[in-house]
Amino acid sequence: MSDAYRAHFRVWRGDQDGGDLRDFEVEVHEGEVVLDIVHRLQATQAPDLAVRWNCKAGKCGSCSAEINGRPRLMCMTRMSVFTREETVTVTPLRAFPVVRDLVTDVGFNYTKARQVPAFVPPAELAPGEYRMTQEDVDRSQEFRKCIECFLCQDTCHVVRDHEENKPAFAGPRFLMRVAELDMHPLDAAEASGLDRKTTAQDEHGLGYCNITKCCTEVCPEGIKITDNALIPLKERAADRKYDPVVWLGNKIRRRSSS
Ligand code: SF4
Ligand code: SF4
Ligand code: FES
Repeated sequence: MSDAYRAHFRVWRGDQDGGDLRDFEVEVHEGEVVLDIVHRLQATQAPDLAVRWNCKAGKCGSCSAEINGRPRLMCMTRMSVFTREETVTVTPLRAFPVVRDLVTDVGFNYTKARQVPAFVPPAELAPGEYRMTQEDVDRSQEFRKCIECFLCQDTCHVVRDHEENKPAFAGPRFLMRVAELDMHPLDAAEASGLDRKTTAQDEHGLGYCNITKCCTEVCPEGIKITDNALIPLKERAADRKYDPVVWLGNKIRRRSSS
């Protein structure tokens, strides 16, 4: 016996000039995810519906959207988490400008990515001579699981409803990148004159983050963004500010420049 049923979907349609929610009844089969239903909607009722996706396996980070108001991957959201009577509302990511329907322009994130200086290799070691403890490898590997879905960036209240904060705030994904590099035992940024702790505060807006952990809650890779990246980075930046050697150095610099 077929276990198919018809679900009530409400999907946002429109572009940068505006749009609205449209209602559809779409067939659902056992084991399907929201992306399957959006594809069926395209195939049967809305052939021009714009949606971005690639892997359908939770690995490319393309199919990010908001499902019943929560930032999620469409390909990893099973229909079985909703009751059959429930209306499933699918809207584009709210923090980024709409291109069309469910597709947003996530260029903000690429701009922020370019603003984080890359790993600085240690001058005294050649590639192949690098040695790290397993603990340091594990820390980096957790952050490297990021699939760049930008759900954390979308959910963060600092930019979600505050377009004006975007120039000054890199967002959790890129503050995590700064944290990863700052905690990397082989990163020679400081020796080359780049203080990542200071730039985290002054250029990437670490101070805007009030560790609400909303970014961590939506991360499909289960990365503990707040506990393992943002809070340690804040602690390191604070240590740096109150480090007596740094304090004395700043004081001497201020005197000699006056
Ligand atoms: S913990 Fe910080 S970065 Fe994450 S959502 Fe909250 S304010 Fe944004
Ligand atoms: S940290 Fe998690 S939520 Fe943020 S972009 Fe990476 S995978 Fe997505
Ligand atoms: S389609 Fe690749 S993460 Fe959903």
